[in-house]
Amino acid sequence: MEINKIYCEDCLATMQKMPNNFVDFIITSPPYDDIRNYNGYRFEFEKIAHELYRILKEGSVMIWVVADATINGSETGTSFKQALYFKEQVGFLLHDTMIYYKNNPMPQTGKRYHQHFEYMFAFSKGSPRTFNPITEPTKYRGIANMKNRGKNGSLEYEKVLRTTEKKVGNVFFYSIGGGISTKDKIAYHHPAIFPEQLVYDQIYTWTNEGDLVYDPFMGSGTTAKVAQMMKRKWIGSEISAEYVKIAKIRLENYCKLFQ
Ligand SMILES: C[S@@+](CC[C@H](N)C(=O)[O-])C[C@H]1O[C@@H](n2cnc3c(N)ncnc32)[C@H](O)[C@@H]1O
Repeated sequence: MEINKIYCEDCLATMQKMPNNFVDFIITSPPYDDIRNYNGYRFEFEKIAHELYRILKEGSVMIWVVADATINGSETGTSFKQALYFKEQVGFLLHDTMIYYKNNPMPQTGKRYHQHFEYMFAFSKGSPRTFNPITEPTKYRGIANMKNRGKNGSLEYEKVLRTTEKKVGNVFFYSIGGGISTKDKIAYHHPAIFPEQLVYDQIYTWTNEGDLVYDPFMGSGTTAKVAQMMKRKWIGSEISAEYVKIAKIRLENYCKLFQ
């Protein structure tokens, strides 16, 4: 299997070439609910779900970024159905339901609030072996009284030392759109790119240098570029030759910067 390559094919074909327990991390956004056409390609969710589990190493994590379309007045619930399928039929642990919060989404008309988020389901194959948490400065430092509810509901106090940094919450905030998600103009020829920072944050959290990252729906190549930047190995699948071309130009331009 060639490393640092985008396979221009159905991701099922790529995964069939991979042995069991092969990749250290998966991050992806599938083509959900026919929200966009993506040159007309579809995917077989259930088969892909089982393959993703098979090729992922024990103790590894998969980030699955999805939202729902609204059809005939109702959100489809596809994201929940997929999450439960991964958990109940495939064997993943639903480690953390994280949120990708868009600071500046497309405004919604009608009787709904603006759609600000997508799910970033963090599934794991057993307990995650790598966790490098993103932190932020704490407001208060020093010894503090921490309140907890005991088993019988009573309040229990514990002395803890508040350090200067604490883990961030599981809602990750990103501004998106032209010039913000990425500076690579060519990427915007794809209709639904990841913000580079989102991919950076997730790779940072769940992997270490040298690990192998897989994106089964590579699109414009965001995962490949960020993995390369972060000294991880990577493999991608993308069924559309047009998008693979975009991703290759994007990667070539990025690599040229460092020659
Ligand atoms: C939401 S986009 C991914 C965008 C990507 N995260 C980025 O930053 O550019 C989903 C991609 O999956 C591709 N796709 C659809 N079915 C596929 C399949 N069966 N195998 C591989 N790729 C597929 C589409 O062509 C589309 O580019």
